[in-house]
Formats: sequence, structure tokens, C-alpha cells
Amino acid sequence: MTAPILQVKDLSVYYNKKKALNNVSIDFYPNEITALIGPSGSGKSTLLRSINRMGDLNPEVTLTGAIDYNGRNIYSPRTDTVDLRKEIGMVFQQPNPFPMTIYENVVYGLRINGIKDKQVLDEAVEKSLISASIWDEVKDRLHDSAIGLSGGQQQRVCVARVLATSPKIILLDEPTSALDPISAGKIEDTLYGLKEKYTMVLVTRSMQQASRISDRTGFFLDGDLIEYDKTKQVFLNPRHKETEDYITGKFG
Ligand SMILES: Nc1ncnc2c1ncn2[C@@H]1O[C@H](COP(=O)(O)OP(=O)(O)OP(=O)(O)O)[C@@H](O)[C@H]1O
Ligand SMILES: [Mg+2]
Repeated sequence: MTAPILQVKDLSVYYNKKKALNNVSIDFYPNEITALIGPSGSGKSTLLRSINRMGDLNPEVTLTGAIDYNGRNIYSPRTDTVDLRKEIGMVFQQPNPFPMTIYENVVYGLRINGIKDKQVLDEAVEKSLISASIWDEVKDRLHDSAIGLSGGQQQRVCVARVLATSPKIILLDEPTSALDPISAGKIEDTLYGLKEKYTMVLVTRSMQQASRISDRTGFFLDGDLIEYDKTKQVFLNPRHKETEDYITGKFG
């Protein structure tokens, strides 16, 4: 069996005294999409943010346990979070392009890393926008502001911005929930296509989305990982009553 690329081990996360994740252990596998589902407040975003150390910025957050990536705990003091976030990129619910051109949005991470060669940047822009399925729509307006794009286009530019830094893992926190169904469908197709090269962790409220594009699904409730298995298993034959109630819409 393929070895996991990322292993969350006994992770607990607190905001001050409030426990948001309770001893969660979950393995993520390469070239898969793992969906994280569960009602509001169940800890899905907390887990996602912990995976690229976003909690570091919040003095109220404390965390116990480990997250191993490439066999090393990302919470070890030796981890450089800038390097980590190059390898583990994140896409948020609200498309958040920077107020600059489409081109500059995509090369942002590369510029931060000191890359100046125009040819290298041009190639990265084209390649990333193609992979994010938005090249054809923007190739003639690369030097226009990204803010002028539709929400769905902005979100695909945000995906391209993450891809430009050549990540291994992409974390997506409800990336389609602010979009109309057609734009959401385009993002879904894009993500499905990206599986070949990347590993993705996708928080979603849409049971249809989870069952359509994910390989595995984890169900969270009140900070506990209640069930984690192949998506088919979770949706067709859930082991826990809470999982069944949630996916059939009885609560949440
Ligand atoms: N910055 C924060 N400060 C304090 N408490 C927080 C913070 N972020 C989340 N929490 C709390 O931690 C728990 C888990 O929240 P989290 O955002 O991880 O849930 P979620 O499953 O992503 O919910 P949603 O579906 O609404 O996005 C909740 O009780 C929430 O109120
Ligand atoms: Mg959330």
C-alpha cells in the first residue's frame, strides 16, 4: 500500500481554553483528494490551518500532537514556515486575489523567492494558469487587474497562484461555496484534474462535491474525527450513526 504523504498524529488544538480538535489522527495519501466534512464548528478549518501552521500567527492557539510531512514533524522548531507554505499551499473560501494584475498575482510567490528572470516568470504564469483551467479566459488580459475578474475566475487565479510555487499539497477550505454552480463546477473539474500531480485536502459543505471528486472522506463532529475511510464506503455504508445522519441531511 502507498505510504501516506502527510500524517496527523494525536492532534489537539485549543483556542485559549476551548478545545477545537480532540486527539485527531488522520493520514493523507499522495495524489488523492481527501474531503473533510462535518457541521459548522466541528474543527475542519482548524485542522486545515494546522497543516500549514496558520495558527502560529494567533497567540491564543495551542496545539499538542504532531503532523509529519516527509517523515518530519512540521511543528519541529527547525521547520521554516515560508518553505513549508511553498510545499503546502492554501486556497480559501473567498477568492482573495491581490489588488494587482493577473500576472503579478500568479508570480507573487516566485518574486518573494527572488526569481526575476522574465522567461521563467512568463513560463510559470502560462503553466499555472493552464493547470488552473483559466489560461484561455485570461491570456489576452494578463496585465489587467485580477479584481476585474468574476468570482469563479478569481478563485482559479488563486489556485494558479498556489500552483506557481510548485506545492506538493494543496489545502482548500470550501473553495467553491462562495461561487455560482457553474463556476463551482469548473473548480471541481480543475481540482479533479490536478490529482495527477498534487495531493489535496478539501473542506466542503457539499456532499455531492465530496462524493464526486474525493477518494477518502473524514467526518468531524465537535472536534472528533468520527469516521475516516474511502469515500464510497463513507457515503454508501457509513459505520457510524452520526455519519449517516449528517450525510443524509438530518443535521448540520
Ligand atoms: N480564531 C478562533 N478563535 C477562537 N475560537 C475559534 C477560532 N477559530 C475557530 N474557533 C472555534 O473552534 C471550533 C472549530 O472551528 P472551525 O472553524 O475549525 O470549524 P469548522 O468545522 O471549519 O466550521 P465551519 O463549517 O463553520 O467553517 C469552533 O468552536 C470555533 O468557534
Ligand atoms: Mg471552516
